[in-house]
Amino acid sequence: MRKSIGLTALSILMMFQSLSAQETPSKEYTERYQNVLKQTQWMREARFGMFIHFGAYAVPSRGEWVKSNERLTTEQYQKYIDSFNPVDFDARKWAKTAKAAGMKYAVLTAKHHDGFCMFDSKLTDYKLSNQFGGRDLVREFLDAFRAEGLKVGLYYSIIDWNHKDYPNVGNHPQRDDKDYGKRTFNWDNYLKYMHGQVEELVKNYGKIDIMWFDYSFGEYSGEKWKAKELVKMIRKYQPEIILDNRLENNEGSSSKQRTISELGDFETPEQGIPDVPLTDKYGNSIPWETCMTMNTSWGYNESDKNWKSPELIVNCLVNCVSKNGNLLLNVGPDPKGNIPDASIQILSKVGTWMEKNGESIYGCGASAIPKPEWGRYTQKGNILYAHWMNQNLGDINAKGVNFANVKNVFMLSSGAELSYNKTWWGNQEHGNFFINVNSKSEKPDYLDTVLKIEMKK
Ligand code: GLC
Repeated sequence: MRKSIGLTALSILMMFQSLSAQETPSKEYTERYQNVLKQTQWMREARFGMFIHFGAYAVPSRGEWVKSNERLTTEQYQKYIDSFNPVDFDARKWAKTAKAAGMKYAVLTAKHHDGFCMFDSKLTDYKLSNQFGGRDLVREFLDAFRAEGLKVGLYYSIIDWNHKDYPNVGNHPQRDDKDYGKRTFNWDNYLKYMHGQVEELVKNYGKIDIMWFDYSFGEYSGEKWKAKELVKMIRKYQPEIILDNRLENNEGSSSKQRTISELGDFETPEQGIPDVPLTDKYGNSIPWETCMTMNTSWGYNESDKNWKSPELIVNCLVNCVSKNGNLLLNVGPDPKGNIPDASIQILSKVGTWMEKNGESIYGCGASAIPKPEWGRYTQKGNILYAHWMNQNLGDINAKGVNFANVKNVFMLSSGAELSYNKTWWGNQEHGNFFINVNSKSEKPDYLDTVLKIEMKK
């Protein structure tokens, strides 16, 4: 009994605390929030980017976690490093593929958890350039993507399964190896290395638009990485850079507690799409980006044929945008450096759709009108985009659109005008808005048919 009274008192206190916390953000917080909105503006307009997971793990082709999953030692893993020779790597081809798909930015793994560097770091010999004729793959990536007019980001793993001073914690491949655990790990030395590599990336490679860190867990979070110092150094070289939130958070947080911290500018939901637009605890919409694979693996996986259809990918993109978010869609090039054919084919279908319908994605966000049965809405100012993605019988009912406020309705892909009316079967009192799509029961575009509703205000 006493216990339950205690709990009730506690929960009332917690409720009170969260209510009072919701009241007003501090001046400092509001300034930070405004600044984050400013810095992320291009990204929130871009909406669609390419994630590229490329490294020596492409050779075993069982995903980038192979060293951890199979508890391989660095010596055992070495055979994959030795045979990693991306002879077909051509960053310009990758950049053209991304651009043709309608993507506006890309993020490449400069170093993944295995610690093998895809850039020519002066702080280690564990790097591709040593066995690739001195070529710096990261630099080639940056040059080629910038040349196509895309923004560029680098993924950098703050975890390192190769560095001698990185302890066998978390999912380290040697987590069960007692002898390995007895070694002395000089954490400060590891931090010096990690900070030093990040400094190389932000100092020597021109303008970097995004740093995408991965990842924190348990006590290995925030100040354990000396994150404040790290972020300060990064912003010194790259005042306009955008940072993901994984220097301190890898799992997202409750909307009642969420804030934009000085250590990260956007949230990174993984392999799923939030049910509502993400907001901070004061109710402000905050920037976020879902990262998602095209099959089920990030790194190249020869046997993973579980490809998502172009239809599902467009659906996911629209879903993100309809909630003020972005989609960072992954490709895992094969060991020779080619983006898999299956990915290319899917991306080219998505690209064809984007060419005609990109207007309903770029610079768009959530609409106040509730989600309809036949799809979703995205909105940009006075223009509402109705994404007809599900099977539907009869006309498209954009219920909730104020009839008197509509200027015109078009088929976005062709620009042809569509007629509309308020009634069908006499039910005019329900706020219905029927767009006449010739009562077809099949969507004209199987990926997503977009109806553009121009409103007066
Ligand atoms: C996870 C995985 C990693 C992948 C990343 C992408 O944190 O550890 O392999 O790169 O997600 O978001």
